[in-house]
Amino acid sequence: MKNIVVLTGAGISAESGLKTFRDNDGLWENYNVYDVATPEAWRANPTLVQEFYNQRRKQCIAAQPNIGHLALIELEKDFNVQIITQNIDDLHEKAGSTTILHLHGEITKSRSSIDPHLIYEVEGWELKMGEKCEKGSQLRPHIVWFGEMVPAIETAQNMVKKADYLLVVGTSLNVYPAAGLLYYANSNCKIILIDPNPAGIESARNLTIIAEKAGTGVPKAVEIILNDQ
Ligand code: APR
Repeated sequence: MKNIVVLTGAGISAESGLKTFRDNDGLWENYNVYDVATPEAWRANPTLVQEFYNQRRKQCIAAQPNIGHLALIELEKDFNVQIITQNIDDLHEKAGSTTILHLHGEITKSRSSIDPHLIYEVEGWELKMGEKCEKGSQLRPHIVWFGEMVPAIETAQNMVKKADYLLVVGTSLNVYPAAGLLYYANSNCKIILIDPNPAGIESARNLTIIAEKAGTGVPKAVEIILNDQ
């Protein structure tokens, strides 16, 4: 069975109503990253950080997967499909994908602020100050903040090395090490990039660019792969 790896970013969730980071009116236009998405921010003002992620959790709970997420499910019949997502939403899970690796954490989970192995499901949308882990420390969002290690990156690199197809959907390829995953694709791997503004990639061998939104571009990429067999 051939391997298909799908690297997704905020763009695949845009048509589900979730903001991206760097588009017009993106999250980072309305918030300063250093106030809400770094360990220093958490130390300086944990309530503000908690509130930022509570608002995003509320939106993610209400969001539904779009055709971009759903079209990927069709591939699971004939291929080994592995999703590597930079997104913290659970839209790939809601769509029914079975193998999902979250590089930057998961909005539906919290974790101990002194022991990263203690991870919990968040009940509802609000994680409150005063909620503590079993070791007595304040629970924080289970998110990889800027400046923190990406524990899943080596697993992701090994997945890409074995990919026969690499779909790259809705990411500006601005943030490393996630953006560097493309360089782990082997020379026979066919890369298909789906993005209405495909800026983050220079031309490469075996690269097809579908300059469309995920909702129309992903079904086209699925068609290309199915017709390529
Ligand atoms: N369909 C597909 N792609 C889209 C759509 C859409 N409907 N709308 C926007 N895009 C594209 C944009 O053109 C852009 O290339 O999605 C990409 C979004 O880029 P970013 O906002 O930078 O999001 P992302 O690449 O996921 O950011 C990576 O940065 O802030 C950190 O941790 C955060 O995981 C995030 C990481």
